Amino acid sequence: MKTNAFVRLAAGVAVAALMIAGCSQEGGNKATVKPALVQKDGTTHFEVDGKPFLMFTGELHNSTSTSESYMESIGVWEQMKYGNFNTVIASCSWDVIEDEPGHYNFTSVDHVIRNARKNGLKVVMIWFASWKNGNSTYAPSYIKRDPVKYPLVETQDGGHLNVLSAFCQESMEADKKAYVALMQHIKEIDPDYTVIMMQVENEMGILGSVRDFSPAAQKAWEGQVPADLMQYLSAHKGKLFPELEKVWGENGYKMSGTWEEVFGKSHTKADDLLTDYPYYTEEIFQAYHYAKYVNEITAAGKVAHDIPMYVNNWLRQPGMINPGQFPSGSPLPEVIDVWRAAAPAVDFTAPDIYINEYEWVLSQFALSGNPIFIPECRVDVSKALYAYGEYDALGFAPFGFDGAQNASGAYSADFENLGKCYAILSGMDQMIIQNYGSDKLRGLRVTEENASPSVEMGNYILTARSSVRNQRAINYGQGAAQMARENAQLAAASQQQAQSGALILQTSPDEFYIVGINVSFSFASKNANGPRILTDAIEEGTFANGKWVPGRRLNGDENRVGINGVGAVRVVLYPSTVTAQGR
Ligand code: DGJ
Repeated sequence: MKTNAFVRLAAGVAVAALMIAGCSQEGGNKATVKPALVQKDGTTHFEVDGKPFLMFTGELHNSTSTSESYMESIGVWEQMKYGNFNTVIASCSWDVIEDEPGHYNFTSVDHVIRNARKNGLKVVMIWFASWKNGNSTYAPSYIKRDPVKYPLVETQDGGHLNVLSAFCQESMEADKKAYVALMQHIKEIDPDYTVIMMQVENEMGILGSVRDFSPAAQKAWEGQVPADLMQYLSAHKGKLFPELEKVWGENGYKMSGTWEEVFGKSHTKADDLLTDYPYYTEEIFQAYHYAKYVNEITAAGKVAHDIPMYVNNWLRQPGMINPGQFPSGSPLPEVIDVWRAAAPAVDFTAPDIYINEYEWVLSQFALSGNPIFIPECRVDVSKALYAYGEYDALGFAPFGFDGAQNASGAYSADFENLGKCYAILSGMDQMIIQNYGSDKLRGLRVTEENASPSVEMGNYILTARSSVRNQRAINYGQGAAQMARENAQLAAASQQQAQSGALILQTSPDEFYIVGINVSFSFASKNANGPRILTDAIEEGTFANGKWVPGRRLNGDENRVGINGVGAVRVVLYPSTVTAQGR
């Protein structure tokens, strides 16, 4: 649900460490402007090259960017051009750049930046380092092979997981040193800010245990809740994530004590993804220590090269809601306050969304003014449109798009659709951004749970349905059997094209532009006894350089607002005096 501007304004001030960047002259004669997250109209805007920017992007598979020749061989740069990307999310692996202790080789970074620049693309770079997907497989060899100096997480029964312990100062220092070297290097070779943002670590947290039981962790668990966290909680009392507010309140809003004294002994029974937080005190404890570790790395990286830096998440999943079943300590909404207290250098936290509860995930991540960026998702245009339209998203990215071509070079239908969607949105990006923070921009998705979502905009209610399901064979005089066959084919097509949704922009009281996928609309007055709403004009078209480029004017047999596949329409509505349904 779109939050109103007032709520956003109130919440937006809580966003951690948002900065307005200044100009620099590092690129020789060329004036360059740092990419920056900026608070405006009660929402967060991303500015690149001094202008508001929407990321139309996708994330490469984990190993792709380690080899320039591999990237060339699969034609990934051409693919991004074809898909109308303006940004690529590529990774930098710690074990690749630090082949020997303190010796850094940035070849795997240089070619990504060079080729992105050549292809007119920006880069979001992921730092695969101490943790990736709740594991530590990207640590350099000298760290992996020395668990005495760089200890691993210990489980309750004394076993070890392949996860570096967040309680180890040496691991953090080594990660920080390498990250600073990386950021210094990027600063040197990238004066025009091809790299616009960094993701620090990847889906961190402990997989396989609710918390770390190593001696250092145990000591911290038995100790006092640190003062910086207590101060943050006290300063934000009444505005904390609801479950955090609840457990702190239930335990008497104590201002000091051990973790279990302040937040209580966790309950362990859990059924409901949306409402249950089992082992919550352990999750809070672990989140605090991951955040501290990552804050040091991020803050030092920003001193070297000050661009926005975020963290991402492996989400709680249906049937997997105990911390440890998802990475415990991950910067999830239920511990966002803990992360903000302990990691002020981190700009925001982002969901990787592979679960069906898409709308719920966005609502949770946006609760306290955290900007929405989806660095990993399945390719689904309805999800992209919903994120930009309803949540002022900075960007949306399907994961592993570089697998979207088959052996003969054809792209998947989903990738084709994404490319068409990015093309239309690119042509109207500034119009979209100008309406961030306003109810003149909305998004909706048709789902199994909600087959006819609606939004109120101005005097109207716009209701969406899947257009594919609405299609019926046209009777040109063929027999009933033929009609039945055609209807069955259309029904089968609707199964394949379940993606349905739209972004809606209201440009005057009666005029709307709708970018959609497999969607049709009906219109009503917002007043229950209001007039019947009819269409004055419907036009297909697209946007180029901020201008509407009309295609067919739709009327007669096509007199309906419907988009099959990906497309855009302009519709003008009017309140009519018609009272009866005609033929
Ligand atoms: C989530 C991770 O963040 C990605 O790096 C990748 O491993 C995907 N899962 C694979 O689905």
